[in-house]
Amino acid sequence: MECSWKAVLLLVCASLGVQYTAIRTLKDSLSGPCQGAFHCQARQHRDSRWRSPCDDGWLPIKSSRTHILLFATTRSGSSFTGQLLNQHSGVFYVFEPLYHVQQAFTNSSSRLRHAMDRRALLGAYRDLLLNLYTCDLSFMENYIRPEPQDHVTGAFFRRSSSHALCSAPVCLGGEEESSSGQPDEIWCPKKCGALNLTLASMSCLSRGHMAIKTVRVPEVADLRTLTEDPRLDLRIIHLVRDPRAILASRMVAFSDQFRAWKIWNATGRQPRYVDLSQITSTCKDMAASAATGLRKPMWLRGRYLLVRYEDLAFNPEDKATEIYRFVGLEMEDRVRSWIAQNTNSSVSSPSEWNYRYSTSRDSRATAESWRLRLGFDIVRTLQNLCNDTLVLLGYKQVQSAAELRDMSHSLVEPWTFQPVL
Ligand SMILES: *[C@@H]1O[C@H](CO)[C@@H](O)[C@H](O)[C@H]1NC(C)=O
Ligand SMILES: *[C@@H]1O[C@H](CO)[C@@H](O)[C@H](O)[C@H]1NC(C)=O
Ligand SMILES: *[C@@H]1O[C@H](CO)[C@@H](O)[C@H](O)[C@H]1NC(C)=O
Ligand SMILES: *[C@@H]1O[C@H](CO)[C@@H](O)[C@H](O)[C@H]1NC(C)=O
Ligand SMILES: *[C@@H]1O[C@H](CO)[C@@H](O)[C@H](O)[C@H]1NC(C)=O
Repeated sequence: MECSWKAVLLLVCASLGVQYTAIRTLKDSLSGPCQGAFHCQARQHRDSRWRSPCDDGWLPIKSSRTHILLFATTRSGSSFTGQLLNQHSGVFYVFEPLYHVQQAFTNSSSRLRHAMDRRALLGAYRDLLLNLYTCDLSFMENYIRPEPQDHVTGAFFRRSSSHALCSAPVCLGGEEESSSGQPDEIWCPKKCGALNLTLASMSCLSRGHMAIKTVRVPEVADLRTLTEDPRLDLRIIHLVRDPRAILASRMVAFSDQFRAWKIWNATGRQPRYVDLSQITSTCKDMAASAATGLRKPMWLRGRYLLVRYEDLAFNPEDKATEIYRFVGLEMEDRVRSWIAQNTNSSVSSPSEWNYRYSTSRDSRATAESWRLRLGFDIVRTLQNLCNDTLVLLGYKQVQSAAELRDMSHSLVEPWTFQPVL
């Protein structure tokens, strides 16, 4: 193939080159003598003697490839934050792939409390993350139920949350809807059919960066081996939120599980059978991870950023810019316009959509709206359970119902958290 001097042709040639590289690398990773370029790179990194067997057919991976992990907890604003990354044209985003692992483990062993089970589950989580970061999506087939046939599945969890999985080359059916600005969630399940994981792996390789959101890893320390893996350039965005807001949001989203809490909220009296353990461990894990980050251990240098959801909600564009700077990516205009559309309720959205995980709402107004939705008695109990977490992350406690409802004073300390360097 000849590339002419014309800029346009150069561009076309370059992009064909990238695609060829992507497909070539994928082929290598499936059948090559070196088990994939990442493997070769790692060998080379560790011991140059390993280089020669890999020379044949080995294309080096661009060192600029970034592996982003949005590390969060349920109802902490992670869907919204994930969408900030999903909007970038160079990012391959996956929404909670660990769901499938947890499902597979939960049915094979009744309890995960046992230390061995927990260790095995965390190991499986890390294995899946590593394989996804190297764009080997077929590794997920081990966990997806029902088992994919010919690398095709209709059961990929929240596939429509990933723009890459709803657009070419993975899906060719929704060009019209996509260009008219409708959110993927509305049309993707109808128009895209079952997911071809081979195509998804190719799409992953053709995008320069990978971002994964998870709420299933308990502590940042559980990710240590991934931060130390020479094949990865991991950037952890640790998203936290006021646990009082998390609880209020869970009460609405998982209404059935929170019946006792709602009775408590309505009556002001704590029922005997209310389960405090879930929110307590959320607080414990959040504080343990933030404390680890604040200690700035060697293995987190350059790899950890603490983000409070409230800061993102109060100041979406600035905070998103910080996040993009931390992961080393340019903030594109399409990210900016997505922010404008999704953080301001007075900007009309392209179509009305009502979704449990909806990210479209007025972010400023909702960040502290829990203060009008939780009874003071619950708030006081939570403040006792999560005292250390609130202190560490800069969430002020209230001493009375009046103080709780007085929205003229924010309960979020105006703190800035710098990336761990
Ligand atoms: C796990 O078991 C439950 C009930 O026994 C079932 O409804 C569910 O589909 C199973 N999940 C998986 C991933 O097999
Ligand atoms: C999935 O995509 C690959 C790559 O384009 C193709 O070779 C394969 O036939 C597809 N699988 C199915 C079942 O359509
Ligand atoms: C929201 O959009 C409206 C209408 O475009 C604009 O007047 C207002 O300033 C915006 N608010 C924020 C906080 O950006
Ligand atoms: C808690 O009770 C208040 C009324 O006191 C109500 O407005 C609010 O919706 C309730 N919150 C939840 C999460 O059910
Ligand atoms: C909360 O923690 C702070 C600092 O760790 C401590 O001074 C305070 O006594 C604690 N309050 C409660 C109610 O436990």
